[in-house]
Formats: sequence, structure tokens, C-alpha cells
Amino acid sequence: MPDDHTVKKNPKKKAKDGSGVSRRDFLKISSISAAAVPVLGTRVVHAAGTPVKLYGPGKVPIELTVNGKKHALQLEPRVTLLDALRDQLEISGGKRVCDRAECGSCTVIMDGKTVYACSVLAIEAQSKPIITVESFMNGGKLHPIQQAFVDNDASQCGFCTPGFVVAFKAFLDQHPNATPEEIRRGLSGNLCRCGTYHGLQLAAAQMAGKGA
Ligand code: FES
Ligand code: FES
Repeated sequence: MPDDHTVKKNPKKKAKDGSGVSRRDFLKISSISAAAVPVLGTRVVHAAGTPVKLYGPGKVPIELTVNGKKHALQLEPRVTLLDALRDQLEISGGKRVCDRAECGSCTVIMDGKTVYACSVLAIEAQSKPIITVESFMNGGKLHPIQQAFVDNDASQCGFCTPGFVVAFKAFLDQHPNATPEEIRRGLSGNLCRCGTYHGLQLAAAQMAGKGA
């Protein structure tokens, strides 16, 4: 009696595509693979003798540290940092616009560097401090970068603005004496579809040399 999990080939039935696997074999293999996928949690498999931890596809515990506060979540490993922030934590400053790492509207600071939150998995962001635009105001007062946007009319629909402000601050944190031209180049990973670039340049001029 053959083992249920062993796919026996009938030597009389040759694969028509020359692969050595008949259509019947293929269907059997597919159904076995599908049945082997667990629904929840983590598991360990061995690849070349080395244990490798696999997560999901069901929800797993994920801890995020956002603006200095820890959050314990249960998320599927496929959930992006942006979705975790917006849908689970209601931290909605970062906006989903392109959802493919092109526009910068979802920019947050992770471990001191700007990232596109739409293109980072929440599970990857664990144990790395996340800073969002929500942390910038101080005692009800706008951050000087936010004030520079207001002063220079550097926002129209506002969808791109939080991402620009976060990228702006991250750049000035690293280059406190940046010139307007350097700030302009430092923000090249962010796009404004309303075309507020003139106001953005004026905001850059206002903040140049002042640090963040
Ligand atoms: S929404 Fe993330 S880069 Fe555009
Ligand atoms: S202000 Fe509308 S996209 Fe920039």
C-alpha cells in the first residue's frame, strides 16, 4: 500500500510536456502542498538542515514602537507598516497614494531613516522606532517645518504634505546646515501632484541653516 503522501509515477504514462511529471502527478502534488499550509501562527521548517522560522499566513503577534509608544498587534505578516499605522493604530498622517514606493506620501522615519511605509512590512518594522508626523507638534504649536509650509503656501490638497514634512525633518536632522538647494535635492523622493513646488522651495529657503 503506497504512503498517501508519496506520489507514485506510472512509468507507462509519460508526461506530454517532457517534464517527467504527468498532469495527474501535478494535480496530486498541488493538492498535497495546499493541504500542508497551516492557517495560523508561526512554524519552523528545515532548509538544508538549518531551522527557518516561517510566519503566517494567519495573524501573528507584532509589536510596533510608534512615536515612543509600544503597540501590541495581531496582524497577518503581509500587512504593510502603512496599513498597520492607519487601519490598526489610527495614526493616519502618512497617506496611501501610489502604494508602490514612488510618491513619498506615506513617508515615516524608521530607525532614523525615511522609509516609504507602503513598502515596508509591519513585521519588518518591529523593534525599530517609528516616527510619524503626529509627533511633530509641541504643546499645540506647529513644528517650525510645518509653520514654514503654512507661511509659504506649500500645500494645496495636502495629501502629500505629511510625507514632505517628515522627509524634510529627517533631512534637516542629518544636515542641519543644508542650503535651500540641498534641501530641494534631499526631498527628491517626494512628489506633489498639485505642483506646490514653488511654495516648497520658499519653505526650504525659510528653514535653510536652521536645523530641524
Ligand atoms: S504611497 Fe507610499 S510611496 Fe506612494
Ligand atoms: S498638495 Fe496636493 S499633492 Fe501636494
